[in-house]
Formats: sequence, structure tokens, C-alpha cells
Amino acid sequence: PMMKEWFGLAELEDRLAAAFGLRQVVVVPGDADRDPLAKRELGKAGAAELTRAAAAMERADNEPLVVAITGGSTIVEVADHLSASQGLKGALFVPARGGLGERVELQSGTIASTMAKRTGGGYRLMHVPDDVGEEAIATLMSEPHIREVADIVRRARIAVHGIGEAYEMARRRRVDAETIQKLRTGGAVAESFGYYYNRAGEVVHRMPTVGLRLEDIQRMETVIAVAGGGSKAEAIAAVLKNGQEDVLITDEAAAMAMLQFS
Ligand code: BG6
Repeated sequence: PMMKEWFGLAELEDRLAAAFGLRQVVVVPGDADRDPLAKRELGKAGAAELTRAAAAMERADNEPLVVAITGGSTIVEVADHLSASQGLKGALFVPARGGLGERVELQSGTIASTMAKRTGGGYRLMHVPDDVGEEAIATLMSEPHIREVADIVRRARIAVHGIGEAYEMARRRRVDAETIQKLRTGGAVAESFGYYYNRAGEVVHRMPTVGLRLEDIQRMETVIAVAGGGSKAEAIAAVLKNGQEDVLITDEAAAMAMLQFS
């Protein structure tokens, strides 16, 4: 807490919470764009918030707590800071969506298995690509095994997700030229959960999915976004304007720059 006063981070947290209507904001020192330590701090704070949120939830004895997570290098850091706790005991970690063409280390399924291992919980995978188009998704959903996992994913009570800059994510996922054009026309600045947003927080493109859709995220009890780095400020602000998040974990550089986008 002393460090926070020194950096004025507590004040930044309050201002961001008010500006974006969030239940809670945690700002860690630094800039994840330049400093790997800041990214580690994001992960540490994200793990702490997830642990706290899980502990605060009322649970029926035989119902495992389902936690849906996205991929990305920031959520990798969250996983690396998790450990066993009462709240996460027996939790089931699932990828929020199918694969989106990311490198294996950054895929949500890989991260879900790490989280399960570190907390002593379980995990389920969705062995399907998510970038195959509406019709193929409908066919996949008629497979009993896929349906079963998809139903579990959609029962998640907590989601932990990353946020990316629209074109960077489009590049990372190698989307086709037509999609890039659509993102341009729509003025996309942000991506999260496979949804692309413009500055006002409106969805300008979505990738059909066997996993979570916006309506599933809407009814979730706790949605935690973990994203930092000054370069992501506009993207984070855009996603928050859409309004699904309850908790934001970010860093000083993103937080300062975000105030101008509120
Ligand atoms: C992706 C998530 O895997 O990671 C996205 O599905 C997010 O929701 C992105 O935008 C962020 O990645 P990183 O590496 O910047 O944390």
C-alpha cells in the first residue's frame, strides 16, 4: 500500500473504476510494453483477484466452479502465479473458445491445464478450431463430445481474459484479407474473446465460436480483464465501454493513457 501512495496508483484505480463503471480496478506499476516485470505483476494481481473472486462465491457442494479463460501472453502470467487455495479447490478450468490459430504456449487450452495443475483443479479442452465459419461451427456443435464441453464452458461463473489491439490480434490469427477489410471499415481498435470492437465499444466483427458468446459473458458473475502496456490503452478502453467487465487489472502506463479515452 505504501508503494501505491507513492506512485499515486490508488487514485488512478479510483478514477478508472468511476470512469468505466467497474467494481474494482488494480493498477500495477510500470509499462508491460517495455518491462517484462510489469507483465509479471499483472499476472500476480490477476491471480490474486481470481483467487479472491472464487473464494467469495457461494457454491453447491457437488457443483465444480467453472472458470473460463482466454489465451495470450498476459493470461500465461496469471496462470504462473496461481497456487492451491480453498476457493479454487476442485475448480474446472476451460478455454473460453476453441483454437484461434495462436501458438500452443499462448492457447487457452494450454493455459487452462497449467491453471488446473497449479491449483489442484481439473480442466477440459475443446479440440476444435474456432476460425472455420458459421456453418462448420453449427456442424461441430452437433457432435456430442463437443456439445458437452461447450455446455460446461457456457456454465462458467468467472471469466479471466486478455485484451488485444485489433490489428495485432488479426495478424496473430492470420485472418483473411476480407476480414481485415471489415475491421478497417468498422474502425476496429480492440479484440477480446474473438470479438472486435470500435472506439465506442461497439462490436464490428465477431468470429463464430463453439465457446462463449457475448450473451454468455453478459450473464457471468465475475469477468476479470487483465491487460496492460501503454499501447493497449485505447483497446482496453473500447472493450470496457462495451461493458461486460467487473474487474480490470492493468498497469500504470495503460491506466494513465486510458483516462483520455474514457
Ligand atoms: C488472446 C485472447 O489469446 O490474447 C484475446 O483470446 C486477447 O482475448 C489476447 O486479446 C491478448 O494477448 P496478449 O499476448 O497481449 O496478452
